[in-house]
Amino acid sequence: MKAVIINKFGDLKGTVLKSGLDIPRPGRHEVLIKVKAAGVNRPDILQRQGLYKVPNDASPIMGLEVAGEVVELGVDVTKKRLGEFVCALVPGGGYAEYVVTNANHCLPVPKCLSIEEAAGLCECLFTVWINMVQLGQLRKNETFLIHGGSSGIGMFAIQLAKQLGATVLTTVKNQEKSDFCYSLGADKVIQYSVEDFHNVLKNKNEKYAVDLILDMVGGEYFEKNIDLLSDEGRLVNIAFLKGASVKLDLSRLMMKRIKITGSTLRPRTVEYKSTIADELRETVWPLLDSKKIRVHIDSVFSLEKFKDAHTHIENGNHLGKIILSLD
Ligand SMILES: NC(=O)c1ccc[n+]([C@@H]2O[C@H](COP(=O)([O-])OP(=O)(O)OC[C@H]3O[C@@H](n4cnc5c(N)ncnc54)[C@H](OP(=O)(O)O)[C@@H]3O)[C@@H](O)[C@H]2O)c1
Repeated sequence: MKAVIINKFGDLKGTVLKSGLDIPRPGRHEVLIKVKAAGVNRPDILQRQGLYKVPNDASPIMGLEVAGEVVELGVDVTKKRLGEFVCALVPGGGYAEYVVTNANHCLPVPKCLSIEEAAGLCECLFTVWINMVQLGQLRKNETFLIHGGSSGIGMFAIQLAKQLGATVLTTVKNQEKSDFCYSLGADKVIQYSVEDFHNVLKNKNEKYAVDLILDMVGGEYFEKNIDLLSDEGRLVNIAFLKGASVKLDLSRLMMKRIKITGSTLRPRTVEYKSTIADELRETVWPLLDSKKIRVHIDSVFSLEKFKDAHTHIENGNHLGKIILSLD
C-alpha cells in the first residue's frame, strides 16, 4: 500500500509518500479500514517537526483520524461488520490506504455527512469532549472562552458549547475567521490582531466573568486567562503555541479557587478512548445526524499532495478542517 512516512523530523523534505508497504493486519480487537479520507491535524505538524513526543510504539505512518470501509475484522470483533463505513480515531497510520484501529474507536458515518466530513470528526471531537466536558465540566448558562475558535478544535467546541447552553466567547486572528465563528454560533468574537482579549473582556461596560477557558496558546495568555476566570473557574490547556513555561501567582489561584488542568489524547489507553467513543456516540453523534453540529471543510487534498495540505495548515489561514482524500 501507499502511506506517508516520516523519515527525518523537520521540514517537509524528510516526509515522503512511500509505495509497496505491507497492509497491516488487525489484532484480536481491531478492524482493518480501507481509508477513503484522512483528517489533517496540527499535532501532525508537530510530530513531523519532532516537537511532539509520540508513544514509543507509534506507527511511523502519519495520521490520527480517518473515514473508510471496514474490510477485515479481528477474531474477537463482534460489533462491526465487513463493508460498514466508519469514521475512526487511529493510533497513527491514518495517511495510508489501509489502517488498523481498535473496533471500539470506530463510530458510524453520521447521516448526511460526506466521507471527507466524517474523516475530520474524531481527533477534534474526542479532544473537545475530554477537555471541555469531562475536565472542564462546562455547564448550562456558564461563560466559556475558547482561544483559536476557527481551528478544527474551535469549530466543534463553539458548536457543542452552544448545544450545552453556554455563552461562547472566542479569539481569532482576522475578520474572515471572526465571521466564521459567528456563523457557528459564537456570542462574541475578539480579533486579537486588533484588540487585546483581556482588555475587551475586562471592559466594565461589557464585563465577562469566564467560567471555563479552553486554551491552545499558553505563554503570555496564561496570566490573562487566570485574571479573567471567575470564582471556581477552570483553565484547560490542550497546547502551548506561544510557549509552555508560564508564571503563576498562587494567591490568585487560592482566592478564586481556580482549577488548572490539561491533557493530551494520543497516549491515553485504548480503554479510555473507548469510553470517550461511547459517550460521543450517545451524545454528539445524534447532534451530527440532526445537523445541529456541522463540519466545515476548508479544503481537500489528494494523498499525493499531503505536503500542500501541511503547508496550508502551517500558513494558518484555514477555517475548520483540512482533509486528505484517497478516493
Ligand atoms: N491536547 C490534545 O489532546 C490535542 C489534540 C488535538 C489538537 N490539539 C491542539 O489543539 C490545537 C488546535 O488543533 P487543530 O488541529 O484544530 O489545529 P488548527 O486548525 O491548525 O488550529 C490552530 C489554531 O491556533 C491558532 N493559533 C496559531 N498560532 C497562534 C498564536 N501564535 N497565537 C494565537 N493563536 C494561534 C490559529 O488561529 P488564528 O489563526 O486565529 O490565530 C488556529 O485556529 C493545536 O494547537 C493542537 O496541537 C491538542
